[in-house]
Amino acid sequence: MNKKINIKTKNDSYSINIEKNSIIKNIKKIIYKNNKVVFLIDKKVFYIFKKLNNYKNQNYITINCSEKIKNFNNYVNLSEKIIKIGVERNSTIVAIGGGTLGDLSGFIASTLLRGINLILIPTTLLSQVDSSVGGKNGINTKSGKNLVGTFYQPKSVIIDPSILSTLSKRELLSGYAEIIKHGIINDKKFFYWLNNNSKKIFKLDNNILTQAIYKSILIKRKYVLKDEKEKLKNSHSRAILNFGHTFGHALETFYKFNQKFTHGEAISIGMIIAASFSHNLGYLSLKDFEKIKIHFLSNNLPVQDENMFNKKIFNIIDKDKKNLNGKINFVLLKGIGNAFLSNKQNLKNLKKNTHIIK
Ligand SMILES: NC(=O)c1ccc[n+]([C@@H]2O[C@H](COP(=O)([O-])OP(=O)(O)OC[C@H]3O[C@@H](n4cnc5c(N)ncnc54)[C@H](O)[C@@H]3O)[C@@H](O)[C@H]2O)c1
Ligand SMILES: [Zn+2]
Repeated sequence: MNKKINIKTKNDSYSINIEKNSIIKNIKKIIYKNNKVVFLIDKKVFYIFKKLNNYKNQNYITINCSEKIKNFNNYVNLSEKIIKIGVERNSTIVAIGGGTLGDLSGFIASTLLRGINLILIPTTLLSQVDSSVGGKNGINTKSGKNLVGTFYQPKSVIIDPSILSTLSKRELLSGYAEIIKHGIINDKKFFYWLNNNSKKIFKLDNNILTQAIYKSILIKRKYVLKDEKEKLKNSHSRAILNFGHTFGHALETFYKFNQKFTHGEAISIGMIIAASFSHNLGYLSLKDFEKIKIHFLSNNLPVQDENMFNKKIFNIIDKDKKNLNGKINFVLLKGIGNAFLSNKQNLKNLKKNTHIIK
């Protein structure tokens, strides 16, 4: 099963191709078609690149990837290395790896020579269903996640679900968290479909997996097309995609991006807090809250953490870049598949109403 999705924003147009066993074929095409190509490759998937007969003749840099690579040091060092290779405006950076590599590479590509071509080959489920779509990139600072970055669309995105066979169960689950998020915020039918099919996704059933990736991207695309630069403040706002991320990002920052939580695990807890908050404020029915929680529990997505309401967590949320005039933008639910953006929340309200329903 192959799928193709076109993304057309105000200034850019590109396609996302989902096809099993397509990486090598596509890498060859990229090398053939482009002037100068620099590959940035996650060490964990370097084995694929090695399948290319002449891989040693290519410009490539391998990187040991985790959240920690998204920092100023790497940005500077990699940029210097790439400049030394001798790139020009029409050169291309190809990132083969997960969301952390994609975010770092995107930021580098968008700023080198004020922007050189970027092609993304996402190799984690999370990057295939989420981070490689929509053109956001960024690095972290001591104060929080993704505080420095740009909007920069790639020239194309190549998704090969078969690469997920080497991914750990934990990382698969992390990507699944973003898939279920898409159902919860925008598509009730998709949520119920996932209720029936999630186990097949974890077993990497190609047909089901491809459909889940495809559907997830279509939902994300809706928000990206309507609100590429996240300017809207209504229910079409791209910020809706941040459902669960207020507390999720705060947890990641709290734990200093160590291995305690994957991004997906952190936002899973964040989604349960956001759903509880929605119920406690009178928007979400108990029935829908329970359906969400049961889905999380039966798929081993975490629903709590001992530090989730730590004072420091609230301080981090208070400093978040998306806050305006002391108000905290928070994505809430009116029901499964029906999220909205509330810009009326403040720290006091959060502290009072975010407790999790037992
Ligand atoms: N730009 C966006 O719109 C956006 C959206 C969502 C998330 N993100 C970002 O994405 C990042 C998370 O991405 P991620 O979950 O892919 O993390 P990641 O890049 O750290 O990858 C997770 C782990 O899987 C390994 N790996 C990658 N591909 C593999 C494969 N095929 N087989 C075996 N191991 C493999 C990596 O080396 C790493 O250890 C976060 O920094 C988050 O902020 C960005
Ligand atoms: Zn996310």
